[in-house]
Parts: sequence; C-alpha cells; structure tokens
Amino acid sequence: MSDTSRQILVTSALPYANGSIHLGHMLEYIQTDIWVRFQKLRGHNATYVCADDAHGSAIMLRAEREGITAEQLIDGVRAEHMADFAAFQVDFDNYHSTHSDENRELASMVYTRLRDAGHIATRPVTQYFDPDKGMFLADRFIKGTCPKCAAEDQYGDNCESCGATYAPTELKNPRSAISGATPVLKESQHFFFKLPDFDAMLKSWTRSGTLQESVANKIAEWLDAGLQEWDISRDAPYFGFEIPGEPGKYFYVWLDAPIGYMASFKNLCAKRPELDFDAYWGKDSSAELYHFIGKDIVNFHALFWPAMLEGAGFRKPTAVNVHGYLTVNGQKMSKSRGTFIKARTYLDHLNPEYLRYYYASKLGKSVDDLDLNLEDFVQKVNADLVGKVVNIASRCAGFIHKGNNGVLSMPASEPKIWLAFQDAAPSIAEAYEARDFARAMRETMALADIANAYIADKAPWALNKQEGKQDEVQAICSLGINLFRKLVILLKPVLPKLAADAEAFLNEAPLTWGDYDVQLANHTLNPFSALLTRIEPAKIDAMIEASKEDLAAEAPKAAASSGNGELVKAPLAAEINFDAFAAVDLRVALIEKCEFVEGADKLLRLTLNIGDAQRNVFSGIKSAYPNPAELEGRLTLYVANLAPRKMKFGISEGMVLAAGPGGQEIFLFSPDNGAKPGQRVM
Ligand code: 2FM
Ligand code: ZN
Repeated sequence: MSDTSRQILVTSALPYANGSIHLGHMLEYIQTDIWVRFQKLRGHNATYVCADDAHGSAIMLRAEREGITAEQLIDGVRAEHMADFAAFQVDFDNYHSTHSDENRELASMVYTRLRDAGHIATRPVTQYFDPDKGMFLADRFIKGTCPKCAAEDQYGDNCESCGATYAPTELKNPRSAISGATPVLKESQHFFFKLPDFDAMLKSWTRSGTLQESVANKIAEWLDAGLQEWDISRDAPYFGFEIPGEPGKYFYVWLDAPIGYMASFKNLCAKRPELDFDAYWGKDSSAELYHFIGKDIVNFHALFWPAMLEGAGFRKPTAVNVHGYLTVNGQKMSKSRGTFIKARTYLDHLNPEYLRYYYASKLGKSVDDLDLNLEDFVQKVNADLVGKVVNIASRCAGFIHKGNNGVLSMPASEPKIWLAFQDAAPSIAEAYEARDFARAMRETMALADIANAYIADKAPWALNKQEGKQDEVQAICSLGINLFRKLVILLKPVLPKLAADAEAFLNEAPLTWGDYDVQLANHTLNPFSALLTRIEPAKIDAMIEASKEDLAAEAPKAAASSGNGELVKAPLAAEINFDAFAAVDLRVALIEKCEFVEGADKLLRLTLNIGDAQRNVFSGIKSAYPNPAELEGRLTLYVANLAPRKMKFGISEGMVLAAGPGGQEIFLFSPDNGAKPGQRVM
C-alpha cells in the first residue's frame, strides 16, 4: 500500500522557554504529530524534531526577576513543556534546546559562511538605552504617551488605543518599562543580514509550491515592496550566543531559533547512527523538509530562513505549512473568561485524545483560524468517537466472547460494505497527506455510519435469541469487529492511545496502514473493556474554572497591579499618578478563617475581618500554604475596592497581597504588630 519509502524531516515551531504551553500551541503540535504519525504508519522514514526556543531578553529578564539563572529557568520550562507534549501524545523523535552546543556551532557556521560570502553588513544604529539597567531597549520595553492620540502607557512601536504605529523616538515621555528610567539615545554597531541579495531566489522559491497560495500572495506583497536588510545582532547584556569575533555582540534570538531545527536533528544523529546530518541538510539532499508554523511567523520561515540556508550552502525547505490561530467559543482566548487554557489544566480534566480528534475534525490545509467551540467539542467527540467508533466494538465483542470464546469466525460476506471500506482508504490517505484532516475524519465517520447501520439492521441481539441463528450472529459480529479494526487503522494517526488499546483488544501487533486489507478470521480476541468514555459537560466547566484559578494563582505575582494577573509578565507596571494610587483602597485585614476549597487545586478561601465587616476572598496561594490554618489570626493587606469576581465556588470580594514567583514561593504581606483590621494603608 505505501509508496517507496521517503526520508522526511518535520518540525513544529520552537516554543519560547518562558511560558506554559496552552491549547493554542497544541493546535500546531497536534497537527504536526498527526501528519508525522500518518507518514510513519505508511512506512515512510519520518523524523519529527523540536526544541525550546531559549534565548532573548524576555527570558533573561524573567530569570532575573525570579532570582535564578537563565539556564535554570530554561531547564525547568523545558521539562514542563516536554511533560505536556508527552501527555498529549506528541511523539517527537527529539526535543532539544536552542541553548545547546550543536546550536552554538551551527549558528556560528551559518553566520561565518554568510559573512565570508559577503551577505553581512555592519553599520551604527541609534536606539533607546536604559541608563539604569545599562541595556538597549527593545520596543516592547519602552512605554510612553501616544504621539497621535495622547493615550498614556503605550508601547514603543504601536498604540493599543488608536492603532497608530510609530518609532519609539516619537513616543512622548518615554520611559523604560524595566527600570522606569528615562531612556537616552545611544549608538552602537549592528550586524545585518543582506536579505535583498536573495530577492530573485525568494521570488521563485515562494512560488514553487512551497507555500499555500494565500501565504505566497502575502509574501509577494512584501517582495514587491522591496526587501530590507535584517538586523541580526543585539548588544550585551543578552541571553544568547556571542557573535564569533565580535565581543559584546549577540545573535538576535530569531537568527539562531530556526537553526535550532538543524541543531535538534544533529543532536538526534548522535543518538541514531542511521541518520546522516548531511543527507538531510546538504545542498543536494533528496530528503523532504517540512516546517509547520502559525501565520504570525511566516516572514521568518518563508523569507529569512530560506535565504539564510541558501547563503550558507544548505538545502531549503520542501514546504512551510501554515495554520491559523485558535479561538475558543468564537473569541480570542481570554484569561478572565477562563478560556486561556493551559495544556496542563486541560490534562487535569480531560482525555487528550478528545482534543486531538476535535482539532483533526476541523483542520484543513488553509490558514483560517480554528474555533474550539466547547459545546460542539462535547457533542462531536461523544457522537463520533463514543457513539460511532467505539460503539461498534462494544456492540459486537460481547457476542463473540460469550458465543464463541472470543474467537472471530469467518466474517459475514457483505461485498458492498467491504467495497465501500476498500474504496475510501486511498482517498483518506490522500486527505491526510494534504493535511486535510477534516476530510479524512469526515470520510472515516461516513464508514463508521455504514458499519453501525449494518449492525443496527442485522440486530444480532435479537437474532441471538432465535434458535439456530448463532452462527449468523458470530458472522455479523466478526464483520463488525473487522470493520472496527479498519476504522482504528484510519484513525491511528489521530488517536494513538485508542489504537494501542484496540490493538490489545484485537490481540494484534501494532497496526500499520498495510494491515488495512487483511481480514481477521479464526482469530482470538482479548477481553473488551471500554475504550473511551463520553465527555461529561461538568468536566468542561471544571476546566474553565481551573483556568480562572490559574489566573488567581498568578495574581500574587502581580501584587497591587490591576488584579487581573495580566501584568504578571510585564517587567514593571506603568507609572501612575498619586490619584490613581489613592484610588486603590488598601486595608489591613485579619485572617479569621482560612480553609481549602473543595474541588479547587490552587485556591484557599479566606474569611477576612476588615474592622467593621467580613469579606470572603479566594486566593491562589495554596501551593505556598499547604496548612491553611497556620494563616488564621494573621494580619495581611487587602485590596478592599476591587470589583467582586464570580467564581464557581462563590464570590471573591477583593484580594490579599503577596509577592513571589509562585509555587512554594509566595509570600503574603503583613503589617507590623499594632496595626488594626480596617486601617487604611497609605
Ligand atoms: O513565535 C515563537 O513562539 C517562536 N519561539 C518560534 C520559533 S520557531 C523557529 F524558528 F525556531
Ligand atoms: Zn494612540
């Protein structure tokens, strides 16, 4: 059934090592993993590599804030990412880091080759510099007043209020978002990759079937507008690789990030002698190379990256496969609505295969956004996977175990059904190959409908009660199990765990696409146990609540910020005037009661005495205070005029103040002895 074996190298974008994986990320990893699993199932030599994207000033600053080294930060985050991916059955052949020896060597090699071929330019650049921190400021680390609409507290490159874009030097009252200092203009030497040298190559490469049409059209606009040289250097302090021979100058994170694909593969080659680095990356490689990415990083992958590869004497990608963004219930993921769902929070409540199937059922080859509609999710998974696929096996297995000691007899002869299954397989394979998983799922479910209709029509449960019909019952159910087995093969790229459990029940070695044509007869089955259960809608509610809790758990880190946790990752909150500060009603509060909240992983319920009244507050500090009673009788600080927030467990009336990065390191503030509940903090 498979064509001759192909050598295929596949990547997903490298996630930044400074945050958790969420369901938006998972769209891409699940899409890529399904495609790779399909290739492997067909007998091709597919290799899937990825890594954490570990460099850049955001990571450096976060490590600094948390009082750890950048290496400690990225090691911890990488372990968390790997655990999340593994739980979602994303089966990388290798998961590396861009902060690795292989990447340092390859980035240096790419750079020196580009430099020696004349593709690197240098010239001075004048930029804002934070005199207190002693560092140049990227646009997002500068804040000030919009030059167009005078909105305060806008970033250095665009205004969220009026949508204007501008140079950071145009901002009024600019200040460093890191230290609050007024930045000064300073000049330094920068290194540029001469992208225009590759104009002709890019015009032809982007139109040679490497990109989806809409992506190629977008790129054509950029190409027609004329390519600019790309600034690939950053000055110290920076967490990254120093540019060879240029002390104090570092590669910009986006220079060494895609080289991380090569580095991860190189790291794998050292573990798997049958893989040859040059056979995949050399100029004359006959291997195929695919990058799966989101639409926000197309310029890096379809312009800079192929040009870098070409200039440094490597092969270019076979294709860059671009997907759209994830929305949840029709809207951008939102922390306050509880739809900003971390991978781990999902896993705490639901089976990963539900999401794999739902994404597959909606993923086409276009760059359109994909909506995770939670009601539709429950309905579709329950109807298709439980109601159609698993149902076939659960309807038939019992008769075979009870009526024939678990041995399949010769399946009933139903040429029409058999033919429908045989005809559909090539079309489904074609859909997988083209990344049209939605069509693959639709056509597979149409087969499941045929199988279910057959069983419903034959009604073996009724037949079994009639005398002399037992052989017929066995033949019907043996056909049912054979059809179920075919569906399992068709769904195996999407549902690897269900497939493994089904293989155990079918008493077969891991199935491949080539096993599809085989018919099982006179074959002993293992006992059947439920392969998949229905999604209970209550689990969805619990996941949404837990996502809101994630937000509450982040709140201590944001302390007296807006209280919605959104500022957690901002280096320093925007400057406010005294009136704005005075608008926050901070009070001394006595913790009268502190207890666990049933069903909440991260929250404690605090009953506060604020002098003349009591307040109920949910706070995400459980990880640091596993014995809540120890907080009883303690004074703390409380934001009295924060709008109440409705949570599943009740209404949270305000918040208590704490500091620290999270986990066990959350420190509740307390006033000195003598302070009285209800006193205003000033
Ligand atoms: O956008 C991002 O999340 C980047 N970390 C992706 C890098 S992909 C590759 F080029 F490394
Ligand atoms: Zn504005």
